[in-house]
Amino acid sequence: MKRAKMESIDMTKENIEKIGALFPNVITEMKGDDGKLKKGINFELLKQELMDDVVDGEECYDFTWVGKKAAIVEGNTPIRKTLRPCIEESKDWETTQNLYIEGDNLDVLKLLQESYLNSVKMIYIDPPYNTGNDFVYRDDFKTDKDDYDEQKGLFDEEENRLFKNTETNGRFHSDWCSMMYPRLKLASNLLRDDGLIFISIDDNEVDNLRKICDEIMGSINFIGMFAWRKKVGAGADSKLFFRQHEYTLLYSKDIYSINYLYQSLTEEQKKEYSNPDNDKRGLWAPTDLSAPAHDNDAKRIYEVVTPSGKVYKKCWAYTQENMKKLLAENLVWFGKNGDSMPKRKRFLSEKLGLTPRSWIDSILTSDGKKDIVNLGLKGIFDYPKPIKLIENFLDIGSQKDSVILDFFSGSATTAHAVMQLNAEDGGNRKFIMVQLPEKCDEKSEAYKAGYKNISEIGKERIRRAGDKINKKINDNNAQLKIGEEAKPKVDIGFRVLKVDSTNMKDVYYAANEYNQQMLAELETNIKEDRTDLDLLYGVLLDWGLPLSLNHRIEKIENTTVHFYDCPVVDAQLSTSNCSLAACFEDKVSESVVREIAKRQPLRVVFRDRSFADSPGKINVEEIFKLLAPNTSVKVI
Ligand SMILES: C[S@@+](CC[C@H](N)C(=O)[O-])C[C@H]1O[C@@H](n2cnc3c(N)ncnc32)[C@H](O)[C@@H]1O
Repeated sequence: MKRAKMESIDMTKENIEKIGALFPNVITEMKGDDGKLKKGINFELLKQELMDDVVDGEECYDFTWVGKKAAIVEGNTPIRKTLRPCIEESKDWETTQNLYIEGDNLDVLKLLQESYLNSVKMIYIDPPYNTGNDFVYRDDFKTDKDDYDEQKGLFDEEENRLFKNTETNGRFHSDWCSMMYPRLKLASNLLRDDGLIFISIDDNEVDNLRKICDEIMGSINFIGMFAWRKKVGAGADSKLFFRQHEYTLLYSKDIYSINYLYQSLTEEQKKEYSNPDNDKRGLWAPTDLSAPAHDNDAKRIYEVVTPSGKVYKKCWAYTQENMKKLLAENLVWFGKNGDSMPKRKRFLSEKLGLTPRSWIDSILTSDGKKDIVNLGLKGIFDYPKPIKLIENFLDIGSQKDSVILDFFSGSATTAHAVMQLNAEDGGNRKFIMVQLPEKCDEKSEAYKAGYKNISEIGKERIRRAGDKINKKINDNNAQLKIGEEAKPKVDIGFRVLKVDSTNMKDVYYAANEYNQQMLAELETNIKEDRTDLDLLYGVLLDWGLPLSLNHRIEKIENTTVHFYDCPVVDAQLSTSNCSLAACFEDKVSESVVREIAKRQPLRVVFRDRSFADSPGKINVEEIFKLLAPNTSVKVI
């Protein structure tokens, strides 16, 4: 219920509004006594507006906002969290190399720092645009829950307070910048040197996003900004200005590691290639042979005589000697009648693609809607990006075996586009989707259809899209003509992992803080509800191993041992020379330890309490020194 104001007008606020009406440039954002953002006046700037002379004071080129320092600290602060596997919600757990991670992307990006450092080829994100209603973030301010809930907030599945950056609170840019800054900084660490990040955005925050990216990625790494004409007719925001397009910024991790960028030719562009002279080398297109008019190099001005005897005297792109070579190789075309201006033949087979174009106008927002309608998910997600748009970015930014990350994944259009492109070009790109389990509004179509949060929508979309893609491949393979090869199926699975508190109990108390119950709990340093698989994934994060590699469980003398990232020998997984062996049983016998050591894993991990006493632990180290001296041994 709304509260009556029961107080007089805030005159300071009124005065700020009045000054703002006269000098809009002096209005800024600052923190109030309650720690919340509010509108304020930049007095230095106001002073300057009222003085003829330059007012003294330090000036520097800087981009800052209220909370920037705190945002930097937030990005650097370690967290006591982990990723817990959820096999029930996964698809093809055993074989897939894709990941679907549920949780706040700030936590996820922190957790992935070691496992995916310098290994992601392409990131695509479509963050909230800060339009006044779309942007939620975790908020630590203490307010009465019910009140808060009703006024402006909502809570995620774990009852974390999510704060809405609404129109009424001024839609603060500072909050948005503070949300984006640490996430982009952490994400850039994950990119390979030749990696690229594509970020969709609209007019509301495009200027702030450019500045943040210039700072984090380095302005030299700015490659360009796509303008996507997303709609044709007038829309709801057309009162004063009709916004038909939005943007996607493109930055590289290290511009010097990128030699070229290509996008594939469209079917329309391919039509420019033909073969009027039946050249055995295939389809070709004629391109200009003359040099630019200003380029009056005497060595390149000469006569070219056509087969029909017509003479063209010009400045050419090639010296006479090189032109002779082109003629000898049948690379010059004089038209069907042999008397036209000479052109250079360029073969389609040599063309890697076109340098990417900034203007995209063949795809519409409504295509994104149709994409999910086609999966039977009509009205389940507002404004998904069209698959074709993301496919276009994947075409430019990824290679066939790349890892692609989207940490604002929404309805998982990026995963859909990755699978689709793999189906089209036989690639084996792998995706990592990250999505907050943000609750669906109870009045929404999604909620009515049974989706409690957005992660559920994302996972269901991937399931439906994947099945459809592989069904189409199957259907096509069943109708092959002679000479045609069957297409391989696409990896349509995904391992689901969820952010949760650490697997470890908090065991670091001062001696005088211990009580009887704590001592009982300390028999184990691991939380009771954690499974072997939870521990395994905790160890993978700790050791910086990727999360989507193969995994085999073996019983050695009735003791469960996990082997992770193992070599494939004769089409079978071998448990020798794996990246990791893990055994989390309460008691592990010496003969089991010996058996694991004989398999010579690169790393091995046990539970602290697997060994009855310290001599037991020392014995394990000795066994590994002897049988597997290159294995690094740890306990948790
Ligand atoms: C604009 S939507 C992305 C839409 C997506 N490109 C698609 O085509 O479906 C942004 C998504 O980011 C999610 N999101 C916002 N804050 C997040 C956070 N801190 N961590 C993870 N996801 C977040 C929102 O729940 C929303 O689904």
